[in-house]
Order: sequence, then structure tokens, then C-alpha cells
Amino acid sequence: MCGIVGYIGDGNVYDILIKGLHRLEYRGYDSAGVAMVGDDGQLNVYKTMGKVSNLETFCSQKNLGARLGIAHTRWATHGEPSDTNAHPQTSQDGNIAIVHNGTIENYKVLKDALIQHGCKFASETDTEVLVQLIEYIRVTNKCSLLTAVREALKQVVGAYAIAVIEKSNPDTIIAARQSSPLAIGIGDNEMFLASDATPFVEYTKECVYLKDGEVAVIRRGEPLKITDLDNKDARIDVKTLELSISELEKGGYPHFMLKEIFQQPETLRDCIRGRVVEGGRKININGVNDNKEVFLNAKRIVIVACGTSWHAGLLGKYLIQDMCKIPVEVEYASEFRYSNPVLDERDVVIAISQSGETADTLAAVKIARDMGAFVFGISNAVGSSIPRETFSGCYIHVGPEIGVASTKAFTGQVMVLTLLALAIAQLKGTLTDAEIENLGKKILEIPSAVEKVLKLADKVEHLSLIYTYARNFLYLGRGYSYPVALEGALKLKEISYIHAEGYPAAEMKHGPIALIDAEMPSVIIAPKDHLYEKIVSNVQQVKARGGNILAIVTEGDQQICRLADHVLEVPDMPECLTPIITSIPLQLLSYYIAINKGKNVDMPRNLAKSVTVE
Ligand code: G6P
Repeated sequence: MCGIVGYIGDGNVYDILIKGLHRLEYRGYDSAGVAMVGDDGQLNVYKTMGKVSNLETFCSQKNLGARLGIAHTRWATHGEPSDTNAHPQTSQDGNIAIVHNGTIENYKVLKDALIQHGCKFASETDTEVLVQLIEYIRVTNKCSLLTAVREALKQVVGAYAIAVIEKSNPDTIIAARQSSPLAIGIGDNEMFLASDATPFVEYTKECVYLKDGEVAVIRRGEPLKITDLDNKDARIDVKTLELSISELEKGGYPHFMLKEIFQQPETLRDCIRGRVVEGGRKININGVNDNKEVFLNAKRIVIVACGTSWHAGLLGKYLIQDMCKIPVEVEYASEFRYSNPVLDERDVVIAISQSGETADTLAAVKIARDMGAFVFGISNAVGSSIPRETFSGCYIHVGPEIGVASTKAFTGQVMVLTLLALAIAQLKGTLTDAEIENLGKKILEIPSAVEKVLKLADKVEHLSLIYTYARNFLYLGRGYSYPVALEGALKLKEISYIHAEGYPAAEMKHGPIALIDAEMPSVIIAPKDHLYEKIVSNVQQVKARGGNILAIVTEGDQQICRLADHVLEVPDMPECLTPIITSIPLQLLSYYIAINKGKNVDMPRNLAKSVTVE
């Protein structure tokens, strides 16, 4: 998984490419590079291991004048992170350069065939195989670069978004996609391409999302041309971007993660807007309104997702089962796709993905669709692959999430799942009008309740000092608080590298209780709900074994306040709405612990924001 950028125009090519790479660093950052057809007529390729800032240092003494260029920030799949394996990759004769996001599955077969023809390889990447193949076809068939790219792509099995340039042609970039995202920005006498629109949103609002199997010819002074691999013209669908540049910057916070945590009152307002109407009496979800029969007849719902989105999915199960009386299964997309799933046309599959690009979730969508299920997507990235591959869906509308550890997207996903469950319940009559109105009104209060929870930040920061040096944590919750415990533990692991386990509080006595001692804190999520008395006993069990307890409780709580070492009090909410409220102190706790440990919270080691490979 990687980010790619390209630019052709009269602007400063190098500066535009570097700025674009910084915007895409959330997609990967183990090496970076640029290739530009320079003022000197050379194909100048500069690349190095590490983040984009390393590349800038590396380039400081180089010739940077250029007419066009392509650039890449990498997250390794084939070949470890190294200068050689960094992109752009070049052909043997040094005439052609490529940047690539995806994986070429049949690269080994292609590589062996090229070696037979005398081709020598410099790197271990699948991408070099593609550029060598392009060169081989170009030279052997004496054809244009465009034809060579098309012919090479016909031989490729796998996923790609690519941009290709050549030394002898300072006026053309060729781009193509199959299963990996690629957006083209159309400006005044200039064009951009990138894995998403963030690198060019400050220059143009006109954007074309390339579709699978399409090849784009981006030529100086000419309109954009898009064809398929057989050179048949494709329709060019220009979209207007609604993304603003201020959304992309840190807005005064030291890290994107903290900014995103504090944005939640606003992002939840955006998520709810227009969906809870008539003062809370009506829930309006277009994807449900437009497919009433599907939801009325659904015999089962299967939720597929990965990571944090899977935790939101688990909450979706509790919400839908409670409100709609439809059985729900929640599957890791990576397991689902290889589990011989049994589905038919009365199943509804809900795919949840912040990025809309997670390879396993996308594959699960395709399988479900092929088996005849109705597939509904819940995504954040507008125009991304999952919304395009699903029959219907619902955006969470929380704006771009840059911090690798998901925060505002999680609460947005949970909110959309709550609204979806309510909309289906309204349709099926499984909740009364009064119950819907009561919950609708409470949902409208959530943004201000979240504002209140965020006032705990100073207290959480102070508490984090006590917990920073623990080496293991247990996160416990029951019912709606169990997925919150899983998500809290995941946040801590992701950014502070402390081992943490999320567990259903009652299951603790079947194993984890053996671990409890003064060295291992338990974070217990215990709002006032129908399982409150049960979790009070779990708190006592931990206490009796000398465990240290940090509890998240409802304002005014007495019992747990007496037992726990520390408590964080959150506003009272109906049980099904507590996860949004209780997850926020846990986001803050992981943030401050990671800061105390001096970790890079926005870019944790080994993790990437969007995992577009298996
Ligand atoms: C990566 C990210 C996680 C995210 C998961 C699923 O692992 O680091 O934050 O939850 O992918 O991503 P998605 O975009 O499908 O929600």
C-alpha cells in the first residue's frame, strides 16, 4: 500500500510533488521518491528510505528543475523497505519510470520470462517487473509508450494504480488503475494525479476518479483522454470536490489524532445532520428508504470489516439485533473471504470501511455481491472503491481522517449504525414511535454530550502519567461496553506499543483473571446500564486480586467510585448510545500515554492508514 502523485504543468513540479507526498503519508512512509523529466532532458530519479522529509534532505543538492514528474510514498509489500526497492522504479535502459500502488500477483512468472529475454533486475519489487515489461514491449514492438503500457497491463494479474513517464516525452504521463484508487485533478493548463484528491485540492476542485480497467493519457495542453485497455474511449465524469484545505491541516493541534478526537462534536453533528428529523421523531436514511423491501425481507445481516471498523461492526450487531430483531453476524473481512460463506439474496451484507479501500473488505463485498446478497457500504471516503462497489450505502461524513489510529471515524461509524438500526426498526415497526422519538432526541444531544466528555482531557492527561509505564493492560466491558473495551485496547496497542487485551468482563474469570496483580491495570467500562450490577461484581473480583482499576462510569455513580482507584465520569445516555460517549476517554488515554512515551502517534510503526493489499 502506497501513495502516488503526478503533475504536469507550469507550476514548480518538485514542490507540488513533495507537498502531495506529505498529504499521502498516511498511506505509507517507509520510503519515498520522485522521477521528473528535467530541464536538462534527463529522467532524474531521486529516492530514499524513510519518510518524505528524508527525501527532501536527499534532494536538496539535486537538479530539481522539471517539466513533469511522478512521486511515491511506500509501505512495503514485495521487497523490504530500502533505497533500491523504493519507487519510482525504472526500466533497464533508464528511459521509463513508474510509480505503483498495489500488487502484481503474477510478477514471478513475468519476471522469469523477462530474465529469459536477458532482462536484468535491480530490485525485489513486483513494480520493477511491470516497468521492465513495458520497456520490453516498447522496444520489441517498436510501439508508443501508451500502447506498451496497455499491452503490459493485459498480461498483469493483480491490483494497481500506476503512473508512467519516459525520458523522451516531457509532455505525457500515462496512468491506469485496477482495484487501487487513482484520482485526476484538472486545473488551468495543468493536471494532477494522486491516490486521493488531497494533494491537489488546493489547486483545483475538478476531479475525475479513474475506474477499474481504464487508462488515462495526461498530455500537456490537451484535454484528458481516458480509454480502456482495448483503446475504446471511456466516459469522463468530472466531479466537484467538496474537500477544503483547512480540513487537511492540523488546525492548531500538535497531532492529527488529537485534532480528530476534538473534532468529534462537530463530526457527529455532520453525521447526524438531515438524518434525525422532525425533532427526533423520524430517522431518515436514504439507503434504507430506497430499499425498503430489502430491509423488510432481510432474513440475516452479515457485517464485514477490519480493525476499528470491525469493532464498530460488533456494536452494529448489538444495535440491529436489539432494535430490529434481525439476526446479525460480524466477520473479519479477511476471514470471511476465505470461509466459503453461505449467502443468498435474502441476506444483507454491510461492509464498513473508513477508507473504502481496505483490500479484504473490498474482496468480501465482491464475494457477497456475486452470491446474490444485497451489499450496503458504510464509508468515510467519498467516491472510494467500497461505495462504488456496493448497491447502496451511507457515508459517515466525518471528513478526512489522517491519524493512523482511527477515532472520529469510529464514532461516526457507530453513529451511522445506530441510525441505520433505528431506520430499519422504524420501517419494520420493531420499536414504537415513542421509543424512536426518545432515542432520536437523545441522538441530537450527543454532540454536546461529547463536548462535555472532552472536558475530561486534562484529567485524562494527568492520569496517563500514572499508567504510562504499565507493560500490560486489561480492558473490560459487558454488553455495549464490550466492543468499546476491544477498541480501547486496540488504540493503546496501536500508538503506545503497550500490550493490551480487550475482554468481555464476565469471561475474565476463565483466564485473564490469572494475570491480575498490582502491575497490570484494568480499564473497566461501566456505565449505568442493565448490566451495571454485574460489572460491579467484576470490579470487585479485580479489586480482590490486588488489581489497579481505572473505571469509566456514569456521572453520579457511587458503587464503582468507591471501588476503583480512579474514575472518569461521563454524561448519562440510553444504553445503546453509551459507546460513543465511553470510547472518547479511552482515545484520550491512549493518546496521552503514547505522548508520555515519546511515540509518533500519527504514524505508529508498522501501521498504515489504509491497507489496500492482503
Ligand atoms: C488499518 C488502519 C485501522 C483501520 C483498518 C480498517 O489497519 O490502521 O485504523 O481500522 O485499517 O480500515 P478501514 O479503512 O477499512 O476502516
